[in-house]
Amino acid sequence: MYLLRLLCLSFCLGFNPVWASEHDVAVATAHPLATQAGIEILQQGGNAFDAAVAVTAALAVVEPAGSGLGGGGFWLLHQAETNKDIMLDGREMAPGKASADMYLNKQGEFEQSRSLNGPLAAGIPGVPAGIVYLSKHYGKLPLKQSLAPAIRYALEGFAAGQHYTDMARFRLPVLKQYAASRQQFLKDGQVPSAGTIIKQPDLANTLNSIAEQGKAGFYQGEIAERLVQAVQQHGGIWTLDDLQRYEVKLRQPIKGHYQGYTITSATLPSSGGIVMVNALNQLSAFDLADTDITQKRHLVIEAMRRAYRDRSRFLGDADFVAIPDYLTSVDYGKQLSDTIDPVHATPSSDVADKAIEGEDTTHFSILDSQGNRVAATLSVNYPFGSGFVAQGTGVLLNDEMDDFSASSGAANVYGLVGNEANAIAPYKRPLSSMTPTFVENDDELLITGTPGGSRIISMVLLSVLDFVEGKTAQAIVAAPRYHHQYLPDEVQVESVGFSEQELNALKQRGHHINPLSRQYGDMHIIIQDKHNGTLSAASDPRGEGQATVTTLKK
Ligand code: GLY
Repeated sequence: MYLLRLLCLSFCLGFNPVWASEHDVAVATAHPLATQAGIEILQQGGNAFDAAVAVTAALAVVEPAGSGLGGGGFWLLHQAETNKDIMLDGREMAPGKASADMYLNKQGEFEQSRSLNGPLAAGIPGVPAGIVYLSKHYGKLPLKQSLAPAIRYALEGFAAGQHYTDMARFRLPVLKQYAASRQQFLKDGQVPSAGTIIKQPDLANTLNSIAEQGKAGFYQGEIAERLVQAVQQHGGIWTLDDLQRYEVKLRQPIKGHYQGYTITSATLPSSGGIVMVNALNQLSAFDLADTDITQKRHLVIEAMRRAYRDRSRFLGDADFVAIPDYLTSVDYGKQLSDTIDPVHATPSSDVADKAIEGEDTTHFSILDSQGNRVAATLSVNYPFGSGFVAQGTGVLLNDEMDDFSASSGAANVYGLVGNEANAIAPYKRPLSSMTPTFVENDDELLITGTPGGSRIISMVLLSVLDFVEGKTAQAIVAAPRYHHQYLPDEVQVESVGFSEQELNALKQRGHHINPLSRQYGDMHIIIQDKHNGTLSAASDPRGEGQATVTTLKK
C-alpha cells in the first residue's frame, strides 16, 4: 500500500513528495517545547538518542501530568550503524518492602486510594537511569548538553496549557494535600489558569545533579536522601538501598509480521508487543483490504477481545513469572482466528478471564538523518502520578504500583481485575500496556505509539492497520478509535467519528457499544519513504503536541 500513500500525498493533500535531503530529521512529541528541545539537540550535532534524552527530560518539565523523572517507561531504539533494535526498559520497580497484600485492609479488601495517591503508590523510578544509559551508550553529546533545554525550561518556566489545567483539576484533591506539590503545580492551592508560567527550580537542580553526576546524581547522595526522607515521612516504604539497586534492563523487542511488514514492539514488562502481534496474527487470516468497514471493525474487535484475554491470563514481569512462548506464534494466531465468528460477536464470557490499568502517559517518535530512531512511551501512570512531589527535589512520583494486580479479582482504577502473574513482589516491575513500535518493509517505515492506559495497545494496532492500508500520517493520528479489552465485554468508541448507522451495524452483530463522552489518546508518528528518504510526521489533533520535519543546517 506504499504506492497508495505516495499517490495520496501527491494528490489528496496537494503535496509534492520530494527527494529528501540527507540532513532531514523528524521529531514528534506531546508538547511543542519538547519537540523544539529534540530539534535543538539534533541541530547541535546530536543523534536521535541524544534528542530522545532531551525530549524525555523536557517532557518531564513541561508535561508533568504524563511522565517525569519520578516515572518510568520504555525506549525502543534502532541503531543504524549496527542495524539492531533494542528496548531500553526503564519501568518502575516495586520497592524491597513491597508485598502482595500491601494495599489490602484488615478485612482483606483492596484500598485503591493507597495504590493511586501519595508515595506508597510509587515504584522506584526508571526515567533518570534510562536517560543516563541512553546518553552514555548510544548518544554522541555530553549528557549535560542534552539536558540543557529541560533545565532551561524548568528555570525559566513554561506556560500551562489546557491539558495541564484539565489534568491538574482532575488531580486537585491529591495535589493540594502535599506542600511541595501545591507549591510546584498549583497557584494559591488552586488550579492555575491557562497561560500561567510554571517554574520548577528544585526540578532544575535535580536535573543538574544528574547532568553532573550521571545516575548517582539521582539514585545516591543528596537527591536520593531527600527522596527517601520525604517518601518515608509521608507513609511510603522506599529505602536508599532500593534507589541504589535500580538498573535499566536491555530487552529484545517483540517481533512479528503482518502483510509483508515487520513489526518491532515493546516486550515484557510491557504487554504491548505481545498483545498487538497476537491480534495481528489473528487478523492475518482475513483479507481486511477487501471488506466493508463494519466487517473489518467486527474482525478487529474480535481479535482485540482474544488478545487482551491472553494479556490478563498470562502476562507479568518475565523476570519473575514464566510466560507461555506461543502467544505471538503464527499457529496460535490461526487457532484463535478459527474461533472468530465472521458475523456475530463472541461474548467475552465464552472466551473467559481478566485485565488492565492507567490513563495518562506520553509518547514521542524521533528519526535522525543517519537512520537512528527512537519510539518512546513514558509514564507516571495516572495524571500527575501519585500527586506527591518529594520536598526539595522537584520530583513528582509515579503511582505505577496500581498497574500491579493488588489482589486476585480486585478491580483497579478502571474497574478491571488482575491476576497472579502480575501480583506485587519486591523488585518486580508492574505489567504495562505501553507499545512503542516500528513497522517496516523494504519501501517504508512507521514509528508509532501513544499514551492511553489499556487502550494504548488497541490504538497502536489501529495505527498499524491504517499504515498498512496506505493512509497518510495525518489520517492515521486523526482516525476515529474503538477498543475492546475482553472485559468489560463492550466496544468503547470515541465520541466523534462514528455514525449511528455504523454503530447500529456493529450492534446487530451482537457487540455491546459503549459510546464514550470524549476522545482519547495522543499519538505522535513518523513515516519514512525508504526509496527517496521523504519524511512525514504527525501529532494527534486530540492533543497539544507538535510534529516537525526539518532539514538540519550543515
Ligand atoms: N501506566 C500505563 C502503562 O504502563 O501501561
